[in-house]
Amino acid sequence: MQSFTYYTPTKVVFGRGVEAQAGALAKEFGAHKVLVHFGGKSARASGLLDRVAASLKEAGLGVVELGGVVPNPRLSLVRQGIELCKKEGVDFLLAVGGGSVIDSTKAIGYGLANEGDVWDFYDHLRDPAACMPIGCVLTIAAAGSEMSDSSVITNEEGWLKRGCNSNTCRPRFAVMDPELTATLPAYQTACGCTDIMMHTMERYLGRGGSMTLTDRFAVQLVRTVMDCALILKDDPQNYDARAEVMWASSLSHNGLTGCGGSGDWASHQLEHELGGMFDVAHGAGLAAVWGSWARYVLDAGPARFASLLGGLFTLPKEGDDTARALAGIEQMEAFFRSIGMPASLHELGVAPTEEQMREMAEKSCWNGRRLIGGMKRLNAQDALAIYRMAL
Ligand code: NZQ
Ligand code: ZN
Repeated sequence: MQSFTYYTPTKVVFGRGVEAQAGALAKEFGAHKVLVHFGGKSARASGLLDRVAASLKEAGLGVVELGGVVPNPRLSLVRQGIELCKKEGVDFLLAVGGGSVIDSTKAIGYGLANEGDVWDFYDHLRDPAACMPIGCVLTIAAAGSEMSDSSVITNEEGWLKRGCNSNTCRPRFAVMDPELTATLPAYQTACGCTDIMMHTMERYLGRGGSMTLTDRFAVQLVRTVMDCALILKDDPQNYDARAEVMWASSLSHNGLTGCGGSGDWASHQLEHELGGMFDVAHGAGLAAVWGSWARYVLDAGPARFASLLGGLFTLPKEGDDTARALAGIEQMEAFFRSIGMPASLHELGVAPTEEQMREMAEKSCWNGRRLIGGMKRLNAQDALAIYRMAL
C-alpha cells in the first residue's frame, strides 16, 4: 500500500431540479459576475441555460455567456474566454455541460489567475499557481471533471491534446441532476459509462501497491456502472440508473478508487492522441485501445488483471492467472460491444496509416520526454506496437 493524500473540496448538490440552486451556490462561493460557459446546443435546447441564468440573476449576480465548446475542447476558445472575462470583470466561472465544457472552464480559470501563456501549463513548462473559482452544472456523466484536478485541452496548432493536473482547479461546487442526462444520445451515454469504468480500472491496474478497501470499492463501482449501462441501453429515461452512473462518474475520478495505489493511465494517453488526431469521442477511443493495451502489458501483472476481471465476470476456474485474465479481457471487449462501444480502431471508425500511428506514439511520449503507463513503463515503440495491435 502506498501513502496518499485524498483531497476532495467540491460541494456536491445532487438530485432532481438542483440546477435551480446554481445562483445561490455561486454567491456562497463569492461570485459577483459570472461567466456561464457551455457547449454546442444541448444546454440551450433543453432550456437549462435559461433556468441557470434565471437562478444567477435571482441571486443578484451579473451574467456573461460564452458557448461553443466542442468535444476535445479547443485552446482558441479558451483564449477567447480569458479575454472576454478580463474585459467584463468576471470573478467566477460556471460550466454548464460535460467534461469538455468543465475542462475549457478550468483552462480559462488558469489563464485568468496566472500571468503568461495558458498553454504553458498543458505543455508542462510550468505549473499553475492558482485558478479562478469554478462551479459546474453537469449534463453528462463521464469525465469526472466535476470533482477532478484535471483538465484536457486540444491545441489546434499541431493538434496536441494535453492534460494539466492541479488541485487549484477543482470545482468549488458541482450541481448534479441526473434528469439532465436523459437527453443524451445512446452513444454518448455508453461513451460516458466506458470512461467512468476506465477511470477506476486505470487506477486498479497499476503495480505500486493496493488496499483491499480500495479494490473492493473499485470492483463494485465498475460493476454498478456496467449494470446501469445495460439498463440505460433499453431504458434511457431510467432515473435511478442515470443517478447511479452520475455519482459513479464523480467517485471514479475524485481519487477515491485510487487510494493506496499508483495506477496506470497508458490507455488514456494513447486515447488522447486519437482524440487529438481524429477527434473521436473519449470513451469510445478508450474502449478501442484498452484490450490491446491489456494484452501488451499482461505479463507484468497477471494476478492483478485476474483479480479485477474475476470481480466483474465469471472466469474459467482452470488455468493460471494469465489464462484467466485473457478470458476476462475478451469478456470486457464483448461487454464494450454489447453497449455499442468499439473494441478496435477499425470498429471506432478510424484507419490510421503507419506514419500517423508513429506520430501518435511519439506524441503520447511527448517526443521522448516521458514514458507512459504504470503496469509496464512504455516508450514510443511500445505505444506504436499497441496501436498496431488495436487496428
Ligand atoms: O455541446 P453539446 O451540444 O452540449 O453536446 C455534447 C457533446 O457533443 C453532448 N451533451 C452533453 N450533455 C448533453 C449532451 N447532449 C444531450 N444532452 C445532454 N445532457 O455530449 C457530447 C460530449 O460532451 P463532452 O463534454 O465532450 O463529454 P465528456 O464529459 O465525455 O468529456 C470529454 C472530454 O473530457 C476529457 C476528455 O479527454 C474529453 O476531451 N476528459 C477530462 C477529464 C478530466 N477533466 O478529469 C478526465 C477524462 O479522462 C477525460 O480525458
Ligand atoms: Zn477518461
